Amino acid sequence: MSTRHPIFAGNWKMHLTADEVERYAREVCKASLPDAAHCLLFPSFPYLNLLATALQNSSAEVGAQDLHEEDEGAHTGDVSPQQLVDCGCLWVLCGHSERRRDHGEEDALVAAKVRAAWRAGLLPILCLGESLAEREAGTTFDVLARQLESLLDSSARRPSGQEGDLTVAYEPVWAIGTGKTATPEIAQEAHAFLRDRLAHHLGEEAAATVPILYGGSVKPENCGQLYSEADIDGFLIGGASLDPARFLDIIDRCS
Ligand code: PGA
Repeated sequence: MSTRHPIFAGNWKMHLTADEVERYAREVCKASLPDAAHCLLFPSFPYLNLLATALQNSSAEVGAQDLHEEDEGAHTGDVSPQQLVDCGCLWVLCGHSERRRDHGEEDALVAAKVRAAWRAGLLPILCLGESLAEREAGTTFDVLARQLESLLDSSARRPSGQEGDLTVAYEPVWAIGTGKTATPEIAQEAHAFLRDRLAHHLGEEAAATVPILYGGSVKPENCGQLYSEADIDGFLIGGASLDPARFLDIIDRCS
């Protein structure tokens, strides 16, 4: 039996301002969120504290969209793992494809960010996924294996062996913000492959506890079918999470 709790994560990217964040949080506080699921929201850095405070009476949790891989230092414009903790963050995205694209983040750096998150007691979500060209070239599984194993092959494992503190988000780049969603079969195939690679490195038992989220144009209209797949444990939602009603609708339909 799986012990994985579902996770519904809203990635707001570089959207929403203070007023909108406050209004959004009020809607979330009014909603009755399922006990068994994690509901996560990822605002831009300036609103982390504001959102964490506004959600104090809700079970929803706050995460950051990125972090620096070092604990502190001379890195103008960057934010350290401990600073995120101070702002009320529990979660952090590592290696989102837009960070890889806009900031040249490569696998080794992403692995270092996951390790930095662990050191600070944050829960990292490792984002990975193939581009359209990679899918068309038939290299999807090679890409996914490389992106996942750069973390698992390195000294990334926590000394305590708590690899279960890892969450993976499969986000095919061709489905992000394009309106094109992976079919449930395509997504399940990728998720099953990722779980198999996790089992290879961590053992079956540990791999069975790692939540694997799907991301890429998830919306109320397509979430149910995706969610019915065995290895899809929740979603990382961009566009559709900007409207609290649509975000909460997705959670509702999957609960
Ligand atoms: P999307 O974004 O839902 O707008 O496709 C998903 C993501 O980038 O996390």
